[in-house]
Amino acid sequence: ANPTVAIVGATGAVGAEFIGCIETRNFPVGKLKALASARSAGKTLPFRGQQVVIEELTEASFEGVDIALFSAGGSISKKFAPIAVKAGAVVVDNSSAFRMLEDVPLVIPEINANRIKDHKGIIANPNCATITALVPLWPVHKKNRIKRLIISTYQAASGAGAAAMAELADSTKAYLEGKPYEPKVLPHPYAFNLFSHNTAIEETGYNGEETKVIIETRKIFEDQQIAVNATCVRVPVLRAHSESITFECEAPITPEEVRALLIDAPGVKLVDDREKNYFPMPIDASGQGDVLVGRIRKDLSDPSGHSVSIFVAADQLLKGAALNAVQIAELL
Ligand code: A2P
Repeated sequence: ANPTVAIVGATGAVGAEFIGCIETRNFPVGKLKALASARSAGKTLPFRGQQVVIEELTEASFEGVDIALFSAGGSISKKFAPIAVKAGAVVVDNSSAFRMLEDVPLVIPEINANRIKDHKGIIANPNCATITALVPLWPVHKKNRIKRLIISTYQAASGAGAAAMAELADSTKAYLEGKPYEPKVLPHPYAFNLFSHNTAIEETGYNGEETKVIIETRKIFEDQQIAVNATCVRVPVLRAHSESITFECEAPITPEEVRALLIDAPGVKLVDDREKNYFPMPIDASGQGDVLVGRIRKDLSDPSGHSVSIFVAADQLLKGAALNAVQIAELL
């Protein structure tokens, strides 16, 4: 029989895309359980032409569930993922709760699908900024090891959830109407502004998001030596993350070689039209599953010819979250 699938956080920004990906990819689902907080219990969600009634997430929610896709925040995952595993489900978790645990595979299918089989009940979906960077860097790293990586992000509202997306729209409207707006979800004014990522600054001077990119890259590439520097910034874009990336390889590498490695790479689409000045944009990345890659050029600050710069964009809610998780579920 087809698996029973539970969506934890079904009413959220990622939750809605879990359901969308299951539908568009024709994921074989016997029964879909939509789980959220008590606030949403009793409301309905459309799924394959029918209405699914949302249930409150409780310790009893996972009976008979084969696969549970979690995106309701780290504390919900910490509490309920082990309960789901005990009930016999395999969990694909979108939070950061389990990513760095040794017996939890951290998977981007284009890179390390082979790790899925090592799971002990939980598989972690990487951070969205990590996924966006690593999908196009992997073919390069495999061919000519990347020693050092500098990433600057331009991250969308969607990464902070549906309420943050609404805050971007509402505060922009208020701004244009000359009305005051008090931010409720994000720590700073969002309309016509940008700010350092809203995760806390740690002792290193790096914020939580930046640290995730650094440590997750090492785990996914299985390369503890790769040197990573990240600057993560929230920009007033609704749902796709962009990133400026410069990498230094062990052996010399040209932009032409990078282009050749990426042209047929899985999960990558080249958008690199110098003549038209047309490069990856969040508006083009939104609603599709590839990481768009362009601005492929020599890093002129490294005359030795070991370094290349690129600019990328990917849908945070799809490849950065729901699509990656559903791809993992398909391989399960
Ligand atoms: P709800 O809509 O009932 O609050 P987002 O990432 O877009 O902010 O979405 C968060 C998701 O997590 C929503 O589906 C939300 O459900 C769910 N959620 C938040 N708190 C809880 C909770 N205590 N129990 C179950 N689901 C929760």
